[in-house]
Amino acid sequence: MPIFTREGTDTPVQPGPELTVVVPTLNERANIPLLVERMAEAIIGINWEIVFVDDDSKDGTIQAVRSLANADHRVRGLRRIVRRGLAGACLEGMLSSSAPIVAVMDADLQHDEKCLPEMFRLLGAGDTDLVVATRYDAGGSASDGFGDFRARGSKLAVRLAKSLLKIELSDPMSGFFMLRREIVDEIAPRLSQQGFKILLDMVASSQRPLRIREIPYRFGQRLHGESKLDATVVLEYLGLLVAKASGDLVSTRFLAFGMVGSAGVIVHLATLRLLLVNGLTFTPAQTAAMFTAMAFNYTVNNSLTYRDRRRRGWRFFTGLGMFAALCSFGVVAGVGVSSVFYQSEPRWWLAGLAGAAVGAAWNYVTNSAVTWRSR
Ligand code: GDD
Ligand code: MN
Repeated sequence: MPIFTREGTDTPVQPGPELTVVVPTLNERANIPLLVERMAEAIIGINWEIVFVDDDSKDGTIQAVRSLANADHRVRGLRRIVRRGLAGACLEGMLSSSAPIVAVMDADLQHDEKCLPEMFRLLGAGDTDLVVATRYDAGGSASDGFGDFRARGSKLAVRLAKSLLKIELSDPMSGFFMLRREIVDEIAPRLSQQGFKILLDMVASSQRPLRIREIPYRFGQRLHGESKLDATVVLEYLGLLVAKASGDLVSTRFLAFGMVGSAGVIVHLATLRLLLVNGLTFTPAQTAAMFTAMAFNYTVNNSLTYRDRRRRGWRFFTGLGMFAALCSFGVVAGVGVSSVFYQSEPRWWLAGLAGAAVGAAWNYVTNSAVTWRSR
């Protein structure tokens, strides 16, 4: 690595890295030292750095990163508080880089770091924008790292992405890839910060077609800790597919909000019926059912739709108040619109739907901006 001295000073200056490897982490403390050690062995002759983007892990991951960073300038750590989510973490890590080439890789050693030099070389040739390490091409494999159920789920997710988004990648779910940083800068404003699937989102959101190469690798076993992929991640993935297939008309969040709202209707009706059967008269039963549904919607939205902005402690309760207040305006707006609609087009179900749509849109937009504003 060339070391030169800036004119007029005698402080040695080192040029910045050519490659930034971004590693998102959530409770991966035990894997950190081993990963850095393996990287140092695997990447020879490239000026690299590794950036861990940690979502405030409780196991002291960031401390492990910092102590390595004190001894090795190639190691950096970015601690995020409040914010959560794999895609957002990867994006922030890539945006923190000034290197011409950036990569994303998991911390749990399931990705083969020995692929990195080859990926770097392919990008250096100049005719490639993005290199994806794939488990599903000749020579690759996922069987070591996946149980049977995960393996089938993952294949289904690939098929959906291919048919809905016309994406020609053998492994669009891969969390292991490398690309030219300027492409990230270009696409960043259009990316969803939620969910697991940053690669798929980048390819689907790019306005010009990306020149993509794939290289096969064996998806290994997780060394320490456990997987964070859960049912919510799967829901978010389906949301991303719909969002991208509709040309971003429907956002993932709005979809989640709408689904929670539909579930809320069921909660409402079930509560109403329960109370009526137990002898309550209609008006008090309906009032109690409305409040129950509202509390249900708020609680589920808080931990699902807006889980990256989740309100905790006393903020949970002030949020419930805001949610209730905003949704009451939503009712007023919805009733107003459906009444006007009904006058010109007297079909009850159409007018009813129009009112519901306006109410839902109002609730979504205002609650996103107020109750769950990004801080
Ligand atoms: N900062 C941050 N925030 N990191 C996270 C978060 C988060 O909310 N959730 C997960 N991570 C980190 C983990 O610590 C790990 O380093 C990496 O992201 C992957 O998470 P895993 O929990 O190990 O995912 P997986 O092994 O089940 O999923 C793998 O396969 C998927 C495709 O099926 C990964 O390679 C995914 O990237 C891939 O999409
Ligand atoms: Mn993993």
